[in-house]
Amino acid sequence: MSSSPFPPPAAGPAAPRLREALLAASFTPDGLLDLLGAPAFAALARGETVPARRATRRDDTPAAVLTRLFLLRRPVPLAEARLALPLDAALGDGWLARDGDEVRATVDVRPYAGDDGANWFIVSDGPSHRGEARDVVLGVGGASTTLAGLTPRRPVGRVLDLGTGCGVQALHATRHAGRVTATDVNPRALAMAAATLALSGAPAADLREGSLFEPVGDSGDGGEDAFDLIVSNPPFVISPARAGNGDGLTYRDGGMAGDELCRTVLRESAAHLADGGLCQILANWQQTDGQDWRERVAAWVPPGCDAWIVRREEQDVTQYTELWLRDAGAHRGDPAAYEEAYAAWLEEFAARRTHAVGFGWITLRRTGAERPSVVVEDWPHTVEQPLGETILAHFARQDFLRAHDDAALLRARYVLADGVVQEQIGAPGDEDPEHVVLRQRHGMMRARAMDTISAGLAGSCDGTLTAGTILDAIARLLDTDEVAVRSGAPQWLRPLVEQGFLIPEE
Ligand SMILES: C[S@@+](CC[C@H](N)C(=O)[O-])C[C@H]1O[C@@H](n2cnc3c(N)ncnc32)[C@H](O)[C@@H]1O
Repeated sequence: MSSSPFPPPAAGPAAPRLREALLAASFTPDGLLDLLGAPAFAALARGETVPARRATRRDDTPAAVLTRLFLLRRPVPLAEARLALPLDAALGDGWLARDGDEVRATVDVRPYAGDDGANWFIVSDGPSHRGEARDVVLGVGGASTTLAGLTPRRPVGRVLDLGTGCGVQALHATRHAGRVTATDVNPRALAMAAATLALSGAPAADLREGSLFEPVGDSGDGGEDAFDLIVSNPPFVISPARAGNGDGLTYRDGGMAGDELCRTVLRESAAHLADGGLCQILANWQQTDGQDWRERVAAWVPPGCDAWIVRREEQDVTQYTELWLRDAGAHRGDPAAYEEAYAAWLEEFAARRTHAVGFGWITLRRTGAERPSVVVEDWPHTVEQPLGETILAHFARQDFLRAHDDAALLRARYVLADGVVQEQIGAPGDEDPEHVVLRQRHGMMRARAMDTISAGLAGSCDGTLTAGTILDAIARLLDTDEVAVRSGAPQWLRPLVEQGFLIPEE
């Protein structure tokens, strides 16, 4: 496997001038949408360049020239480039390379809609070099935006972005962290991350080369060097390359066997988290024969940490193999090599007694609690991103539930969560619906079947009366035994609180 063709640009004096030129040309997400039209804009996001090439072929405006250079990666005449950007500075810092009377971009520069309307730019090798070189640095993909949406954005002191790649998570972190440290085993990635931050007008991060937590040393087991937030979209792919049987791609194969890398990130993060600190990662895990995946992944949670583990998807080993062989473009190469590689993946899974792979997200919170809350669930349904606040609220409710036994649960007051609606399902005209369902319209967008008593309670929770008082009134209305209603309530009230339908009013 080759290495990437150009060295990454320097985050030097050209970056602010280049940024100015890109903004002046409306080389922004909105500007590109106007320039290309919606179908070509969407195709470009999928890595398809033909529609954008056709949309800009007779256009010599600076925005079209910048699109040809940085997104379509076409050569541009020197004179045209000079009208669109500070040519000499861009050549000097390695953003462009000269070839006779033409220049070409050394990297993909992609406008990215930042937080609070900021115009950011992601510097990477772009989608077209996927799978070509071991050290290729990818831009923002679906996993990157999922993680960015999951990450709580409240102000914090120190953030660690482990495996920063093009620097997108570090870039988001600069908006709400006092100090951002970003690590990567690939020096090319660190240079891209520096360029992303510089071109986005963001403060520089503390960039460190090395594997996993090695570059941040011993953060002092919760001491003052510890992180308030650790984020990682790690190289989670479970492949034969990890077992040393093939050529790994650094962006996806972390060099450890099976799902060991994700387990290690999670296990080791606890020692690097401040008290109350969060670690938010994406993960893939093996689903092995004869073992419940929930137990396997829950066993990764380090002591003294609460955890929320959500499986978003599951693929059998053939689907998984095809996904990643295609990701590296192997399906377009020699058929015999493809078959050999496919077989090697299946061999690897068979050796690990793995029949499927789970995809999901894991949040850890360092609490030191004696009875940590570890919630593991399967939730493949639609959610509403961003979920950062939903994640914080989940842990706050866990604290409440841990501190309230059944009696205390009934003494508390609750409000119905914002956006929860009731749906009734039954034959048209029926007096009593067959099913009553509460449905969230935000966050996890959960649904929960209710009976008359629980629906009555939910409908009356406006924070003024305790749950016990409301239940007594419902029992009287239904002419039912109050004691029986109260004693049965915690078993459905606890999940209603845990899942965020009812919010404790404290
Ligand atoms: C999937 S990419 C994530 C990039 C970026 N953070 C994002 O969210 O899009 C994983 C990154 O982890 C890096 N990496 C691979 N092995 C690593 C290791 N052992 N320690 C730290 N980083 C590693 C890769 O070079 C790559 O940049």
